[in-house]
Amino acid sequence: MRVSTIFSGLLACALGVSASPTIRSTFDATTQLNPPSHELLEWTPPQYTPELIPAFQAKIDWDLDNNHTIETPAGLQCSWWAREGHWYDAEGRQFGEILRANDDGIVTEGTEPGTRFLELIIFYVVLLDDGHWAYVKHTGGAVVRQYQNGVVRVVTDSEKYSWLNRVDFVAPGSFDGTEVMTVNHYFPNANNLPNGLPPSHGAC
Ligand SMILES: *[C@@H]1O[C@H](CO)[C@@H](O)[C@H](O)[C@H]1NC(C)=O
Repeated sequence: MRVSTIFSGLLACALGVSASPTIRSTFDATTQLNPPSHELLEWTPPQYTPELIPAFQAKIDWDLDNNHTIETPAGLQCSWWAREGHWYDAEGRQFGEILRANDDGIVTEGTEPGTRFLELIIFYVVLLDDGHWAYVKHTGGAVVRQYQNGVVRVVTDSEKYSWLNRVDFVAPGSFDGTEVMTVNHYFPNANNLPNGLPPSHGAC
């Protein structure tokens, strides 16, 4: 092996090029940052490890091929709507029916070849089994027709389901090769559950 080959190999390693050429940061790792000016701003270990607790599940049947796409100055705006959808509690009992779900996201080429990235902007209304409605905002990032990682926020005037309010549910979902999106909603923080939780969720 020629010395120049060895040398360029060493250089590549030193630069972190050979290990991960495609994800190498474009930022200069030697950039000087201002250190925290006082102790309270320094890093501290988390006080507890968050635990995801299942809250409920949504099944939504999207009419994926029946969309409106608009070339806007901000990108390709896609508008989809749902045929049908349901909410199930953590034990599998249906407690809501989804009405008028809409996804008006922006689609771009994904970072992986052959995939398309979707900025999720889903809004929908749910009829709960006590006759009250819930309004739902579901945002996040997705790969079109495959999976998504989102956050779901619900508002409702239902007393029975008041626990739905004021939680940012962690809401990963996938299509599993169908047009039905399964989204599992989790409480993000077992140490900070909202008031009025059903006993099955372990609330006092
Ligand atoms: C929108 O629907 C058409 C079929 O009408 C389909 O070919 C296209 O892939 C859909 N758009 C997206 C982004 O899924």
